[in-house]
Amino acid sequence: MSLFITFEGIEGCGKTTQINLLAAFLKKKECPFLLTREPGGTKIGEKIRQILLSSDHAGMEPMTELFLYVADRIQHYRQVIAPALRDGKTVICDRFADATTVYQGFGRGLDLAWIEGVHARALENIKPDLTFLLDLPVEVGLKRAWKRLEKDKTEEDRFEKEALDFHRRIRDGYLTLARNEPGRIIVLDGMKEEGALHREIVSHLPCSLQG
Ligand SMILES: Nc1ncnc2c1ncn2[C@@H]1O[C@H](COP(=O)(O)OP(=O)(O)OP(=O)(O)O)[C@@H](O)[C@H]1O
Ligand SMILES: [Mg+2]
Repeated sequence: MSLFITFEGIEGCGKTTQINLLAAFLKKKECPFLLTREPGGTKIGEKIRQILLSSDHAGMEPMTELFLYVADRIQHYRQVIAPALRDGKTVICDRFADATTVYQGFGRGLDLAWIEGVHARALENIKPDLTFLLDLPVEVGLKRAWKRLEKDKTEEDRFEKEALDFHRRIRDGYLTLARNEPGRIIVLDGMKEEGALHREIVSHLPCSLQG
């Protein structure tokens, strides 16, 4: 059985940490899965990622940002995600369309219904089966994110450089989406320790994956 799982949340909330723990879990259970991320996940997407996340590109127009994310997602969905789901794999993706609704909608102020319309046209409104939203105060997430950026020596920091107020809109935006779709989006307390969060995530998987 194929399942499309996404992880969402503000910078530094623990997405990559939990995705790696889930991947190790599925590997041990010998469940076929694919791990991927946005922006990126394809050759074209990794180039779009560099444009989107580099702080050399401060001052990018919100609409430019939106269309770059959507362009990345079309390529990613058609080239990587859909074929893997057709092969019966579980797909775990680090951010997906909810991130665009929240960052470019709640964050940048673009019209939410209009963004929804773009997704409907570009991606037939594809939704993940299950989304884990790791929620925590923005001050905590950003502190963690900056520490990781320093450690990884990456310059993918355009969003981390946004004001606190921007990140608060992102957190609130995600919580609004979760209230609208409680069946799909599971909100987890990102302040809990890694192992406890992982066990909670596993408990929400269908029985066929829990093994
Ligand atoms: N539950 C946790 N408790 C404390 N620290 C954590 C927890 N989960 C992750 N961390 C630490 O916080 C930092 C950020 O975690 P991680 O990279 O998983 O977050 P992320 O959501 O993927 O961030 P980004 O949005 O920047 O990709 C890492 O140094 C990680 O070790
Ligand atoms: Mg990450």
